[in-house]
Amino acid sequence: MPGTLILGIESSCDETSAAVVRDGHEVLSNVVASQLIHSNYGGVVPELASREHLRAIVPIVREAMLRAGVVYSDLAAVAVTEGPGLAGALLVGISFAKALAFGADLPLIAVNHLEGHIHAVLMNNEFDKASPLLALVVSGGHTHLYLATRTHEQTWQYRNVGKTLDDAAGEAYDKVAKLLGLPYPGGPWMDALAAHGTADTTLFPFAQIKQKVTGNTAPKLARESAEALDDMRFDMSFSGIKTATRRYVELHKMQPAIAARERAFRDLGLHKAKPDATNLARALPQLDAETLNLIASFQNAVVKNLARSTFNAAQHYGARGILVSGGVAANSQLRQVFANMAATAGLPIAFPSIALSTDNAAMIAAAAWPKFLARHFAPDTLEPTPQLRLG
Ligand code: KG4
Ligand code: ZN
Repeated sequence: MPGTLILGIESSCDETSAAVVRDGHEVLSNVVASQLIHSNYGGVVPELASREHLRAIVPIVREAMLRAGVVYSDLAAVAVTEGPGLAGALLVGISFAKALAFGADLPLIAVNHLEGHIHAVLMNNEFDKASPLLALVVSGGHTHLYLATRTHEQTWQYRNVGKTLDDAAGEAYDKVAKLLGLPYPGGPWMDALAAHGTADTTLFPFAQIKQKVTGNTAPKLARESAEALDDMRFDMSFSGIKTATRRYVELHKMQPAIAARERAFRDLGLHKAKPDATNLARALPQLDAETLNLIASFQNAVVKNLARSTFNAAQHYGARGILVSGGVAANSQLRQVFANMAATAGLPIAFPSIALSTDNAAMIAAAAWPKFLARHFAPDTLEPTPQLRLG
């Protein structure tokens, strides 16, 4: 089979995934098993995640190979997520990848999960080779802003220029959804329901979500040293809006209705369901206008806050394009608001396909491609790095 095939393996959180990608961009297969068990607990339980990965990893890799129509001897390398993520969960993917690479005599490539999310976009969007780009990685575990600079034809260098100081945006979505009696993960439900409410922009005043801009802008020195000195940061915060929602619920005595909704979702078999059109139609009668407006207001505040920090950072650092990735990048209002602001700023913008927004192994194989070209292989002593940073 022509081209260079990389098998990617991802197991950092609650998705077990394997994918075969040709030359860093052509997805031959991308199999994702989401662990439904966590919906019983309203959040990811680390011990259960490891056990589920252990159960799924062999059949998922086999399925990815089968769907791609390849055998191990067709592969050029095995790529695996090194971190950040849950230690036990990462260990399953890494142990399997190491054993496979050793057994099949293939090089092993370690990939940072966050770089994976960035490549979920870059694998399909070249931005006409423009650089630097401003990347927002926004999911249940991360809300990070990176300045991504192209160093060579294929390779990138990252610099963190902002992050959440408390909850990740997806985490805030999930916690508020749980607070309102909605299924886990709550982000997709909140997104679907927000469209049926009206955002009250006075409910979560912007001032409540503080924009944290810190650092010194460089004096006007020679351009290179000015860049080195410029440490302006665009940090964010999402725990305030979560607390404000809880306070609203208490103040307006919404708890009995929330408990009733939780029971109704269970009775209707919706407590583990995804909000597709049918499920949404069945769920909507369980939501009053006040709750729908609250959801719309929450979403509006979160999206506008993310957009403000991203575009301010892009402008400050002279980004030539914007990319948004991670689970929350699937959000419909976020895509709309970001697309409009990018058009106004005259900047190209790109999102991953919905399938590549959430955790998957295709993005890991794609991020491994430049490392393969640079012969940047991992030692066989590779271990999980749960707190791994990018940039
Ligand atoms: O990237 P991902 O699959 O896993 C992490 O690394 O966290 O992201 C999952 C997160 C969850 O918090 C989920 O609620 C959120 O992304 N999410 C959404 C949407 N789809 C997924 N949040 C808002 N709107 C959506 N449409
Ligand atoms: Zn992720």
